[in-house]
Amino acid sequence: MNAAPTLRIVADAGTLAAEAAALVIERARAAVAERGRFMWALSGGATPRATYARLAESPERARMPWEQTWVFFGDERCVPPDHPESNYRMASETLLAKVPVPAGQVFRMRGEAVDAEAAAAEYTRTLAEAFGTRRGELPRFDVILLGFGVDGHTASLFPGSPALKEIFRPVAAVHAAAAALPQRLTLTYPVLNAAACVVFLGSGAEKAKVVKTMLGEHARLPAAMVQPTDGTLLWILDRDAAVLLSPGSAR
Ligand code: 6PG
Repeated sequence: MNAAPTLRIVADAGTLAAEAAALVIERARAAVAERGRFMWALSGGATPRATYARLAESPERARMPWEQTWVFFGDERCVPPDHPESNYRMASETLLAKVPVPAGQVFRMRGEAVDAEAAAAEYTRTLAEAFGTRRGELPRFDVILLGFGVDGHTASLFPGSPALKEIFRPVAAVHAAAAALPQRLTLTYPVLNAAACVVFLGSGAEKAKVVKTMLGEHARLPAAMVQPTDGTLLWILDRDAAVLLSPGSAR
């Protein structure tokens, strides 16, 4: 049974960052209490920057169990880790370089790899080793943070992409529409939908139209197809991104 999404609408981008940070801390502390560690996949893009910055500052920084936190990525661009477009670089600059998460517990996707398919297979092995899963088993993240584009993509699952049809491989190399070479690496729906908690973050008026579409009843855009089979689905939106939703939509 797919969980109906929980929708939290907050005043602005700053409040969204505070709300998202508080949720990550709550889930992290619960995961460590239950299983001794917190398995967390980060989103790329601009929206989560403020949440990461918030977690790197007091008082949130001290409330996170960094020593027991294991950090992964929902997707990565096919660029080196020091490239301005690298999600790993963004997360390092805003968060990872500022908190005491053990370096051996941060697992980036190798966007710099010449063979993106091999890098996807390598990350699949990385996940299996970190989660201790056997062949055919899926890693179950405690929290996966996701954003979404105005076209309804999430992670690097874009409308029309063959990766949307991937039902076995946890990680795929993605060719942007016209590009000859893979442009991205991404977790696929099987892993996203195996998570204990998926959190979408959305901010800004430019997202309002796609938010209305994606939270509609018959939404088929990639981000709308993320529906944890045995987990929580939460959308945290600021008022501008939620402006086209009917009053009382928050639930
Ligand atoms: C990425 C993300 C991508 C992002 C959306 C929204 O690598 O960029 O995985 O899915 O979340 O494109 O990006 P913004 O937060 O910048 O609007």
